Amino acid sequence: MDKKIFIKTFGCQMNEYDSNRIYDSLKKIGFIKTEDHENTDCYLLNTCHIRDKAKEKVYHEVGRIKKTYKNKNKPIMIVAGCVAQAENEEMLKREPFIDIVIGPQSYHKINDVVANHIQKQKVEETDFDTMIKFEYFDNIKNSNNKVSSFLTIQEGCDKFCNFCVVPFTRGPEYSRPFSKILKEAEVLVKNGAREITLLGQNVNAYLYEDSKKKYRLSNLINELEKFSELHRIRYTTSHPKDMTDDLIECYSTNKKLMPFVHLPIQSGSNKILKLMNRKHTVEEYLHIYNKLKKINPFIEFSSDFIISYPGETEEDFNQTIELIKKIKFINSFSFIFSPRPGTKAAALDQIDKEESKERLIKIQKYLFDYQLKMNKSFENKFIDVLVENKLRDQNKLFGRNKYLNSVIIEGNKSFIGKSTKVKIESFNQNNLFGKIENNKMRAA
Ligand code: SAM
Ligand code: SF4
Ligand code: F3S
Repeated sequence: MDKKIFIKTFGCQMNEYDSNRIYDSLKKIGFIKTEDHENTDCYLLNTCHIRDKAKEKVYHEVGRIKKTYKNKNKPIMIVAGCVAQAENEEMLKREPFIDIVIGPQSYHKINDVVANHIQKQKVEETDFDTMIKFEYFDNIKNSNNKVSSFLTIQEGCDKFCNFCVVPFTRGPEYSRPFSKILKEAEVLVKNGAREITLLGQNVNAYLYEDSKKKYRLSNLINELEKFSELHRIRYTTSHPKDMTDDLIECYSTNKKLMPFVHLPIQSGSNKILKLMNRKHTVEEYLHIYNKLKKINPFIEFSSDFIISYPGETEEDFNQTIELIKKIKFINSFSFIFSPRPGTKAAALDQIDKEESKERLIKIQKYLFDYQLKMNKSFENKFIDVLVENKLRDQNKLFGRNKYLNSVIIEGNKSFIGKSTKVKIESFNQNNLFGKIENNKMRAA
């Protein structure tokens, strides 16, 4: 008989991709996804460790699940993802309700560990077997059938920014074989994907070499362009150090690569970038920006910012504001520095909490302002939108424009999976609202 599994995913897009692939694997041993978190045979939390009290939040969440199942059959409790990797067997010791702790590079073992658990063993799997993992998943069909799909091409990080846990939770950089990625992309397109976002913690560090040649991210993007049913290509997250000319060139030659670059800078101060061990300067970042703008002035940028990194003075902070004013990022993430266990920056003196909050509010005011201005610029215009799905409980459609802005649309379901012109009638900070008029539809 089929067993039910409920999956809750936190963190980045890669966790979302991983959750889908874990499910693809578990389906083979009879698990079926459920949306009912109060009545499931297996409960999987895919966790993120990037900021704040990530670990405590997971224990809190497990405590909540434990309460729900107090008078019911206990589900198999699995903790996966970056907290699982960082905490490993400690989790089994501290919270006996947890049955399985599995790190991101051990997902190929998921069916075995679940089967072992059914035979009553507690399991912790946190080895870094990245290559074996991907080889295993190459033989399991990706069943994701979303119009906009993620596809992991690279995993891990060798850069070791002083604030970041990713090199510890995801392990060293690994690039998947070129041909396997294209095969998976083919499956996704057959399943209905019209947009593919290539994923990696350092996606533009992608480098795969076989007996014939070296393949980089630009080669993948150009190969994907040939898929006739695919409308759009994106990639995330990139690092300024790996923004090579062949990739920049794609923005002039590739018709499907979206003109929107998410390129984290973290700070506008060279002093802070150095303290962070970012391996790039503000000038190098601006050089990339200028090259891209020269190739296509309609390219827009978004970024990640860390506020109040240890040592950040008012002057350093103001340099970040100046950079934001210069580039006018249209959509960015900004967070106060969060000391992460095991990282170099964790031991440094932190900046006063109130001061940090003030800085965050100030920076977000600028960022949100540019976001609003950008959204306003679409008012009363027809823009290209790829329609992704129908909104739950609403008679509206959801899609995105080329800059990844969310668009809420009046229109009928037949537009799902299509690229269409939408007339934007209103907007707020996070959404554009519009109508599909006169069935103006584009083929691609
Ligand atoms: N690899 C990407 C890069 O090099 O920029 C970023 C990947 S990381 C998963 C996403 C973002 O989380 C980072 O860009 C950074 O802004 C943020 N982040 C990472 N560690 C953080 C910390 N300790 N405190 C606050 N934000 C953090
Ligand atoms: Fe983290 Fe830096 Fe690696 Fe990005 S490049 S994942 S911020 S260590
Ligand atoms: Fe979080 Fe791990 Fe992604 S720490 S951001 S889930 S790589």
